[in-house]
Amino acid sequence: MKIDGRFITIAGVFSVLFGCSTAFNPLDEYEALEPSTILEAPVPLRNNPDTVKGRYLVEILGCATCHTDGALVGQPNAERRLAGSRVGIAYTSPFEGTLPGIVYPANLTPDPETGIGAWEQEQLVRMIKTGISRHGSRRLPVMPWPAYAKLSEEDARAIAAYLLSLEPVAHEVPEHVWPGQRSRAPYVHFGTYRSK
Ligand code: HEC
Repeated sequence: MKIDGRFITIAGVFSVLFGCSTAFNPLDEYEALEPSTILEAPVPLRNNPDTVKGRYLVEILGCATCHTDGALVGQPNAERRLAGSRVGIAYTSPFEGTLPGIVYPANLTPDPETGIGAWEQEQLVRMIKTGISRHGSRRLPVMPWPAYAKLSEEDARAIAAYLLSLEPVAHEVPEHVWPGQRSRAPYVHFGTYRSK
């Protein structure tokens, strides 16, 4: 910059303006760090591409319709989203004359006692695609696993990763009820019936 035939620096202009003899450099108090820690920081689980995709799949496949408390009767409890339903689903006909068998959609949050906290990701994938439970039995009359059987391994794994990343909610669902037994918790009947 040229003023009255003399060259002065920008810092010189500041020292004239603020009356300091030496220019203040705000970077003097900072130390340069290697950016490697930033590059190596893990992707937060909640924003990991797998869990984002898993959430998307869980939404469009309607898992919360059954697995959220109250959702089956139109009153979903937001605090128990995917944390199991105290409203059961009858799987035998109301016309059979005996009390129906009833299942209660499980708690899908990773609570170790009441949810899926003790499940491995691969066990969840197998359950979602084949209906085979963690302990190897296949007694799932209502969970619509045949509709999910064609999910790719990758998609099923994304669903499992998302479920395991949820905030654990301690919520125990009622025991399943065998046909002929009396239920202590409410339930709904699904089905299509033809008049005779
Ligand atoms: C029509 C209702 C319904 C829908 C929709 C549904 N489920 Fe289920 N699910 C159940 C019921 C009922 C059970 C309890 C087992 C049974 O069927 O007897 C269950 C059990 C499970 C279990 C076993 C948990 C345990 O502790 O044993 C997993 C895992 C599961 N569901 C995941 C899912 C996922 C993931 C989706 C969505 C992709 C889904 N479910 C959609 C009704 C449903």
